[in-house]
Amino acid sequence: GPCRESYTYDDVQETSVFLLRKTKYRPAIGIICGSGLGSLADSLTDKECFPYEDVPHFPVSTVRGHTGQLVFGLLDGVPVMCMQGRFHYYEGYPICKCAMPVRVMKMVGVKYLIATNAAGGLNEKYKVGDIMVIKDHVNFMGFAGVNPLRGPNDERFGPRFPAVSKAYDASLRAAAMKIGRDLGIEDSLHEGVYTCLGGPNFETVAELSAMKILGIDAVGMSTVHEVIVACHSGMTVFAFSLITNKCVTTYDEEVVANHEEVIEAGREREDVLKAFVSNLVQHIRNN
Ligand code: 6GU
Repeated sequence: GPCRESYTYDDVQETSVFLLRKTKYRPAIGIICGSGLGSLADSLTDKECFPYEDVPHFPVSTVRGHTGQLVFGLLDGVPVMCMQGRFHYYEGYPICKCAMPVRVMKMVGVKYLIATNAAGGLNEKYKVGDIMVIKDHVNFMGFAGVNPLRGPNDERFGPRFPAVSKAYDASLRAAAMKIGRDLGIEDSLHEGVYTCLGGPNFETVAELSAMKILGIDAVGMSTVHEVIVACHSGMTVFAFSLITNKCVTTYDEEVVANHEEVIEAGREREDVLKAFVSNLVQHIRNN
């Protein structure tokens, strides 16, 4: 049914009050840990964890033995709120429900969203392990009407017809590129255009060829709906992809995309990703 059936403003308020009563933290920064960044949440100090199944109105996880959680804590001294594990459309939730935790972040006081993901590199220059700072997206699912803002608009969340043309904050992107240079990873750091497809299957050769012509640099299965909701609510957004595999755009390629290589690439770049995010969080705190 329509998205409004899945939660209301009052629901988000109940969730937020629940969290604010239980945590001592009042973080201004929210981080969504994608594949390969789950260990970032583990590395916070003085953690307070809330398994999703204990958080009122949160989507109920479909994957057994692999439940996600909200983690509040300090990232090198800065209070942050992390989603360790996110909700994907392919799991079966309505898209608005997938993005609902972002509204909770906003309501508990988060001003800056850092969204991360694993993505396939479509741009020929990208290598496995590279970081792509997202400068824009193509909301393909939105072309078909799958949009987290679909349904009656509650103005308390944001405007009916929000502009999203400046969703990815230019000054944070510039800061991130400088951080990359300072960390000595400029050769594996890019700015590019991301798209989210519904999944769960990886793309066909024809689909990837078409997306390449459209100027898309990396392809994944998340983030866009979260960014739209964050932008709608007035949050400042930064997002990046870890390139975990190269998209296969010819039929005579031996390899095909698989989940294992995605997880493995994340593990290998764990330390770099953590340093990158930590430096960005310090930058936000100091500015
Ligand atoms: Cl190649 N496609 C999609 N949709 N998501 C991915 C990916 C590819 N690689 C990692 N995540």
